[in-house]
Amino acid sequence: MIIANWKMNGTRRSVATWIEAVTSNINVKNINPCIFCPPTCYLEYARRLIDENGSSIEIGSQIVNYSFEDESLTGGISTTMLKDLGIKYILVGHSEQRNFLNESKNVITKKIEEALDDELSVIYCIGEDIDTKNKNETHLFLSEQLDVLAQLQPTHEDKLRSITVAYEPIWAIGSGLNAEKDYIVKTHEFIKKYINDHLEWGRLDIYPAVLYGGSVNLGNCEEIISSTDVDGLLIGGASLNSETFSKIYNLS
Ligand code: 13P
Repeated sequence: MIIANWKMNGTRRSVATWIEAVTSNINVKNINPCIFCPPTCYLEYARRLIDENGSSIEIGSQIVNYSFEDESLTGGISTTMLKDLGIKYILVGHSEQRNFLNESKNVITKKIEEALDDELSVIYCIGEDIDTKNKNETHLFLSEQLDVLAQLQPTHEDKLRSITVAYEPIWAIGSGLNAEKDYIVKTHEFIKKYINDHLEWGRLDIYPAVLYGGSVNLGNCEEIISSTDVDGLLIGGASLNSETFSKIYNLS
């Protein structure tokens, strides 16, 4: 799975140009979905262009909102609305949402549950900050973020296969400094083992894919994607250029 996360970038024109270029430049393999996450205001437009182009690109949403007790929420977007637009994937727990929008673990759990109820696939983002890394506390930090998945109601057990984990060390996001291969391998191994042993998903025969994100570019993508336990990429800045993104996809 290779994901283009455009964050707060783009225009109608750049969305259209990108979809046309990527559609003709990439060889989509079924085992490796190509997912485009444009800004929310362009989701419908992107969906329509993808349909018209007969493109195999899938659409994902960068955000979803949740309001406790059915309180009204001006500006909110629900999983049901996203499903209605034909969206298949949702990013939940991105560090920028956790930090800038104070997204709590409780809210993240609810967002995942609602997404699963609406049959959307969830990309659950986790990752440590630089202080945590320097204190050698990455595994403890990630295990606490992964414990959110243990909070999901048992009624969601049969839908856990729709969850993918994306490991994005915060210090690597947008910094131009991707994590070293060894560090990525060790961390992905830890994440998979924790999900298998502590969350006991192995008992259910569920082994979620784990993606890497954080300063992925054309120069480092091959080394990262070929690393043990790396099952895909979540790409920010380098995904904005259709040529670069297509090359990364084709190399993956
Ligand atoms: P960059 O690829 O720009 O570092 O962004 C990573 C990211 O946050 C994708 O979700």
